[in-house]
Amino acid sequence: LSFTTQAQEPEKFNYDESQVGTYILPPLLQTPDGKKITSSTQWNTQQRPALLKLFADNVYGRLPGKPTGMHYKVISEDKSALGGKAILKQVTIYFTPADTGASMDVLLYLPKQAKGPVPVFAGLNFKGNHTVHPDPQIKITSRWVANDKNAGITGNRANKQTRGLQASRWVVEEIIARGYGLATAYYGDLEPDHPEGYKTGIRTQLSKNLKIQPNEWGAIGAWAWGMSRMLDYLETEPAVNVKKVALQGHSRIGKAALWAGANDTRFAMVISNESGEGGAALARRWYGETVARLNEAFPHWFSPNYKKFDNKPNQMPVDQHQLLALVAPRPLYVASAQEDQWSDPKGEFLSAQATNPVYALFGKSGITAAEMPGLNQPVGETVRYHNRSGKHDVTLYDWQQYLDFADKHFRQTQ
Ligand code: GCU
Repeated sequence: LSFTTQAQEPEKFNYDESQVGTYILPPLLQTPDGKKITSSTQWNTQQRPALLKLFADNVYGRLPGKPTGMHYKVISEDKSALGGKAILKQVTIYFTPADTGASMDVLLYLPKQAKGPVPVFAGLNFKGNHTVHPDPQIKITSRWVANDKNAGITGNRANKQTRGLQASRWVVEEIIARGYGLATAYYGDLEPDHPEGYKTGIRTQLSKNLKIQPNEWGAIGAWAWGMSRMLDYLETEPAVNVKKVALQGHSRIGKAALWAGANDTRFAMVISNESGEGGAALARRWYGETVARLNEAFPHWFSPNYKKFDNKPNQMPVDQHQLLALVAPRPLYVASAQEDQWSDPKGEFLSAQATNPVYALFGKSGITAAEMPGLNQPVGETVRYHNRSGKHDVTLYDWQQYLDFADKHFRQTQ
């Protein structure tokens, strides 16, 4: 293995393609103990569990299951939201038998004119459900939120001026107009996103005596876990077609969405929006963010074991194309943005493309393009990729591609 560049200059970040160096990716079709994988059955019964274990032990930490006593309470329901076009429901998921303590608030939009259960996009948001749409009936989160001078958020508390603050990232009207529902919850309900956040988040709330083990879940694990709990709730909602739930996540929440989608095969589609390092991007490619920098800036995100690979990504027993491959044979969308070089768009493309042999085991074609496509040119069949022009963000363009992708995979079989 030759991966010397980063070891020599760990403190710098590389944006020069000629400096990326060479690397060898861990094989997809060979188990960690050397067995060749030649069928979808072998993939499902041998490689899939082996890779999930490697990612849990070395990257994201262990992921607990559904807690007993979990239950739901409707907070409000509006049968004529969005000017009569949608049903808006707010539901609290309680993770324990009590109606106090660990919980997560889900905001659910469903198209009013639906003829039957609808496909739904699900995902966590960064700043509270009330920032997804300006509708004043949406509950303002009372949890810890990151301060934001531009948005007037101080003292780590949300305020009503932030209603609709991130509406451009969720395009509720567009999603509803296309016949889909949207389910979202605030990621801070699961764990406040700072190094001490776990003390008030579910990692502590759900375990009597949390002692952080080397393969302990981190914040990304907690967010991923919450995504599966949201799906548990959606399973109880008759207006939702639970066989057609697409999990979407942006950036750090995109890392979590990939981890949730890899583990929980009930998600019928997984969408990574600029998830970058620790998400879709290949770790061994020295370009943009690095494992070392992730662990330094965000020590609470991954399992403690991940820190062993700071400046040594070539020593990891996995790389991120294997995480993407764990979504197979389900449809997977990987999206980058050109001005977001920190996330390494090319590393995201190569990672998505590298999953092709696994999709082929299932008789599916993944990324059909041999080369990275030009800007705003989505490529691929069951795995699709685009590099949007513009900044690190989620835009209407991104959503339009996700909706088209969902139309292709969800509507064909209806
Ligand atoms: C930082 C971090 C990235 C992350 C991003 C985000 O830039 O370094 O890994 O994806 O924040 O969540 O917006």
